[in-house]
Amino acid sequence: MSATTTYNGNDTFHGWAASAKGAPLVLQEMTLKQWTEDDVEIKISHCGMCGSDDHYLCESWGPSTYPCVVGHEIVGTVTRVGKNVKYVKVGDRAGVGAQSGACQRCENCLTGNPNTCSDLKGFILTYGSRWPCGTPSYGGYADKWRGDQHFVFKVPDNMTNEIAATFFCAGITTYAPLKRTDVKAHSVVGVMGIGGLGHYGVLWAKAMGAKVIGMSHSDKKRDVALELGCDDYIVTSDKEDRKRYFKKMTHILCTGTSPDFQWEPYFDLLKVNGHFINVSLPKWDFPPFHTYDILKNQVFIHGSAIGSPNEIREMLKFAAEKNVRPWIQKYSMKDVNKAMENFRAGKPRFRFVLEN
Ligand SMILES: NC(=O)c1ccc[n+]([C@@H]2O[C@H](COP(=O)([O-])OP(=O)(O)OC[C@H]3O[C@@H](n4cnc5c(N)ncnc54)[C@H](OP(=O)(O)O)[C@@H]3O)[C@@H](O)[C@H]2O)c1
Ligand SMILES: [Zn+2]
Ligand SMILES: [Zn+2]
Repeated sequence: MSATTTYNGNDTFHGWAASAKGAPLVLQEMTLKQWTEDDVEIKISHCGMCGSDDHYLCESWGPSTYPCVVGHEIVGTVTRVGKNVKYVKVGDRAGVGAQSGACQRCENCLTGNPNTCSDLKGFILTYGSRWPCGTPSYGGYADKWRGDQHFVFKVPDNMTNEIAATFFCAGITTYAPLKRTDVKAHSVVGVMGIGGLGHYGVLWAKAMGAKVIGMSHSDKKRDVALELGCDDYIVTSDKEDRKRYFKKMTHILCTGTSPDFQWEPYFDLLKVNGHFINVSLPKWDFPPFHTYDILKNQVFIHGSAIGSPNEIREMLKFAAEKNVRPWIQKYSMKDVNKAMENFRAGKPRFRFVLEN
């Protein structure tokens, strides 16, 4: 007899679903993936609101699949585990980020980088993908999540669920590339876009010992960015402001740009062998750059996608050690449409977290 038939619970959940591009989110009963012995079920207490949720609901990256339930900064209590599950047990508090599955066979998976799994069917995004059983994957604007243990992480004891949630996307997406490019004391890190990801970029770079420059598209966040820990602040469109950092930055972490983005003003800010790291995923493409511009100062250009499970565990440890805590504002899950409206208006300081 299969585990599914002996289970006393059920295979449905309630999620705040969109039925079409831009449609309001409506609570509806939906079907969970088919249970396997590698699965974990979580009663969701909190879910953060990511820029990618907005992109998916607005179809910034192409057509989305409906109905969809977005949300990939999920935290709650484990209510069920399959026989093969070793990472968490029933009763643990646990989180899930933007990835819920990987093929575990391709070279990227086998070398510890399943966040870059190259098997398009094996790579399962927390929402907008399909599980091997054929059921669509659904995210955390919901009461329940079910999925693969390999992408479920125990929440550290000294962290509440509401604080833990946003680490699983915004946190890891910014921690991993800063760590990989060796940000440390004497690094000078410019963080472009002081939003959900960007504010984590500031917190991590400070915790790694760097000097941090907030780089924002307007002057509106100056005070709050300094309060967050930035050592200085520049408005990216202001040429005079930028001049102060001509060839002074070791790293630029780009979490947000305007459609008129050009490379040259940012290359000008980097020291020799400096790193430009892009984690943003806007609906427009970056423009071409002049080949000589990357040669003359030996610039490294990086992209980074979320982070691997090992990097997630390392991040949680680092956050606990350095007491890195995101700035969040809570909304009741039932007010998700209001929260999304305020998110689109650029109001979060700096991450909205939905609470069941
Ligand atoms: N690489 C990955 O794995 C990964 C993971 C998660 C998210 N993402 C992507 O990362 C991006 C940021 O996500 P997020 O959750 O941090 O979003 P967010 O909270 O909305 O932050 C984006 C920031 O972009 C900045 N921005 C620059 N020019 C802007 C303009 N003209 N209009 C509005 N904002 C502008 C804003 O900061 P200022 O006001 O300070 O300029 C804004 O706060 C999204 O594209 C998302 O899809 C990528
Ligand atoms: Zn995200
Ligand atoms: Zn793979």
